[in-house]
Amino acid sequence: MATSEPWRIDATGVRTRDVLERDDCPAKLMASAETPDVLVVGGGVIGLAAAWRLAQRGLRVTLLERRELGGGASRVAAGMLAPAAEAEFGAAGKRLLQLGLESARKWPAFAAELAEASGSPSRLRAEGTLMVARDRDEAEALERELAFRQDLGLEVARLRPSEARQLEPALAPTLRLAVSLPGEQSVDPRWLTEALAVAARRAGAVLREGVAVSGLRCASERVAGVTLADGSSLAAGSVVVAAGAWSAALGEVAVRPVKGQIMLLRDPAGPGLLKRVVRFEGGYLVPRADGRYALGATVEERGFDETVTAGALHGLLRHASELVPAVLELEVEEVAAGLRPGTPDNMPVVGPGAFEGLVWATGHYRNGILLTPVTAELVAAALGQDGR
Ligand code: FAD
Ligand code: GLY
Repeated sequence: MATSEPWRIDATGVRTRDVLERDDCPAKLMASAETPDVLVVGGGVIGLAAAWRLAQRGLRVTLLERRELGGGASRVAAGMLAPAAEAEFGAAGKRLLQLGLESARKWPAFAAELAEASGSPSRLRAEGTLMVARDRDEAEALERELAFRQDLGLEVARLRPSEARQLEPALAPTLRLAVSLPGEQSVDPRWLTEALAVAARRAGAVLREGVAVSGLRCASERVAGVTLADGSSLAAGSVVVAAGAWSAALGEVAVRPVKGQIMLLRDPAGPGLLKRVVRFEGGYLVPRADGRYALGATVEERGFDETVTAGALHGLLRHASELVPAVLELEVEEVAAGLRPGTPDNMPVVGPGAFEGLVWATGHYRNGILLTPVTAELVAAALGQDGR
């Protein structure tokens, strides 16, 4: 399945009909020497990575985030870089898999460059993933998942329970079947968010928190800047919309919020309980290098609801502890909910909008951390060397 072809932007595939205020913006949005070449809306991993890449080119970049940087889905994410484990059936699933594999290949160099640029050691891990089944029904379903991935030419192996428990002794003896995906990686999304912010600032980008964008502005057929929630306007040469689950407020882009609840657990004894990511019906456990574990996640269609519920946490713990009983000994460090930017076919919306100088970078659904490197490159390519 691996392809060395670079991923190409298909502008006609960008499903947006942009809503822009056309009124008197040329008069109000006078460009000056301070006018940024590019305004980025949204300070999650997608906006931050785009800002970093554009600033590296010498462009004047300003990023506007209405909360704090990483205050959306990005800080809540588990951090799996899992194109093969998350592979889906159908044509859109294949396209997403190719994009995900492309981005996964970029991750080692991307993480090394980011570590260097931010001065913060990389928290990329390449320990692989185990998909596991606890009963006969789940084992039958897992056999189908295995066959699907084998047909796609992905690197997968069927493991007997004893083989899986040799790799991960914390797995329950009742385990029925496991599938190994040795090539899969993971990263701590908080490291990613913080390192991107440092690297983008060091490259010259201005990152502003607590600034909400309420609309896009245009002059003739070009984007001219944005309107802020306080009624003022900011001019810019180009605008990148990376507003995650909230992107549809800025244009007719088919993005909706898909809620995910997740827990951050900590082993007081330090790392070692699990090495690999473990995925099971109803969730996953993602080990960090320091003895922390992300236990996620629900997938809920509840609009812009970011509350955490007892029932969801109970469900996650019940599923996880049936497969890794020692999970119940871990300390609960944090519980959180985030809104994934979902699209009708789960493909992200990345590329030029209906107006010159407008670029969409949203809709990354369950794979925004995985797709960060490739998305930043696509955004930079969409804007050209001069940022226009
Ligand atoms: P966000 O991180 O949501 O950032 C968007 C930002 O835009 C927000 O900070 C928001 O405040 C800001 N914003 C919105 N509107 C405006 C406005 N009008 N003006 C100014 N600012 C605005 N992906 C993976 O690859 N691997 C995983 O393991 C994984 N696990 C996940 C687990 C959970 C529980 C969840 C919820 C998601 C997970 N994801 C995972 C998905 C991933 O988190 C998202 O795809 C990714 O974070 C999207 O990044 P983003 O920058 O587009 O959005
Ligand atoms: N990719 C994991 C999640 O979205 O929960």
